[in-house]
Amino acid sequence: MTNKYCSVKPIKDSSLPQVFIETYGCQMNVNDSEVVLSVLQKAGYALCESLQQANVILVNTCSIRDNAEQRIWGRLDVFLQEKKKRKNVVVGVLGCMAERLKEELLQHPAVDLVAGPDSYRNIANLIAALDTGEKQINIKLLREETYSDISPVRLDKNGVSAFISIMRGCNNMCSYCVVPYTRGAERSRDPHSIVREAQELFEAGYKEVTLLGQNVDSYKWINPDNTTETTNFAQLLELVALVNPKLRVRFSTSHPKDMGNGVLYTMAMYPNICNHIHLPVQSGSDAMLDKMNRKYTREGYLYRVGKIREILPDCAISTDIIAGFCGETLEDHADTISIMKEVGYDSAFMFQYSMRPNTKAHRHFTDDVPLEEKTRRLNEIIELQNGLSLASNQKCVGKEYEVLIEGTSKRSAEQLFGRTPQNKVCVFDGKGHKIGDYVTVKVTSCTSATLMAELVEE
Ligand code: SAH
Ligand code: SF4
Ligand code: F3S
Repeated sequence: MTNKYCSVKPIKDSSLPQVFIETYGCQMNVNDSEVVLSVLQKAGYALCESLQQANVILVNTCSIRDNAEQRIWGRLDVFLQEKKKRKNVVVGVLGCMAERLKEELLQHPAVDLVAGPDSYRNIANLIAALDTGEKQINIKLLREETYSDISPVRLDKNGVSAFISIMRGCNNMCSYCVVPYTRGAERSRDPHSIVREAQELFEAGYKEVTLLGQNVDSYKWINPDNTTETTNFAQLLELVALVNPKLRVRFSTSHPKDMGNGVLYTMAMYPNICNHIHLPVQSGSDAMLDKMNRKYTREGYLYRVGKIREILPDCAISTDIIAGFCGETLEDHADTISIMKEVGYDSAFMFQYSMRPNTKAHRHFTDDVPLEEKTRRLNEIIELQNGLSLASNQKCVGKEYEVLIEGTSKRSAEQLFGRTPQNKVCVFDGKGHKIGDYVTVKVTSCTSATLMAELVEE
């Protein structure tokens, strides 16, 4: 087979076997699909845009909430129809659901292959082994795997922003969460390979990288050849910021129990590190935080927010919130409402609690907030956040921001959009500028989701 490996962009070549990848879940899963594609392109596959053209259909899955898994079961039924229409189509399930459900997935008539998050190096071999007529499964978790030497083939549409995974797995064992089971133990990636990847991306025209980990603040790399040489997250962030002042750097997710001032001072020192911190609170109640095993208190969380405000006065803070965790009382819920107001989040991802099999919460607690009540609490949280997001955006009106242009607006081709360092989406009249340019804009009006702005001529 031809080997055209080495491009950061997908190979489109209809003479090669065609692979189609559908990705669900978090940004880390998106980056994993890029690793999978890199391995497959090296083995002679090319990417296709539709499942009707595919010889290999892969679905990279998420287990975080029950509805995420239900959606995948629905897709498997669609893939089965496709298999019935055509011969020589194989279907593989990758990612967190593969790791969680293992052989159970092979019971579905569409599924030929099940591959967990640490098996992607062997994905081409697993597909090739299907020629034996046997279904294939590899769900081994590896303590060392970080795919550090594999350059992901970028699946983003704009060629401007890319993800870089800096670590894998999670050791935190929040009682509601499946991630430690589906992704295995935490491991950090060699900083040299991270910096090299950022450099390659910048040379390929990328202007923004997002460093990814379940808890970036616990990033720690120890040089195996010289164990006195270590790198923490603040140091890594600085190394990536130094790649080029025109390369924006973002990161996610920060953990309130581990974030220290070092990261904040590094952010303050480098203008190309974006002033946005995703700091999931989950709940405002100490009783719930303790039951969730988050290892911080409401007071500790607010102390961290205070430090962010002090060191980085124009830094946006976003969060994740879970409504209706086991035993959550109306008082606990009121604590969540009050912490949201106290912090004044710029944006939030909000969920109702979904009991996940085999987690600590599943083994020890009762999922006792009735569904209707969970929904009511979630709606109250969402409504409050809409107001907070609007208030946060209104504060931007009249101010100037540097925006990195990411695309044309859906409404009109003359309208471009990008994000401010604070991660707010901003729409403005482009006047000859193009995707990938940095421009200064002045915000003229807003909704709770978007800033409307005009170009400031320099
Ligand atoms: N590592 C990140 C979160 C990754 S999962 C962190 O610790 O912040 C993304 C979000 O999904 C979580 O922050 C949480 O709000 C939500 N989530 C995780 N498990 C959940 C569950 N069982 N039910 C509902 N939401 C959940
Ligand atoms: Fe899940 Fe907690 Fe790890 Fe985040 S830190 S991935 S919520 S166990
Ligand atoms: Fe989902 Fe796995 Fe990410 S459970 S949120 S895809 S780590």
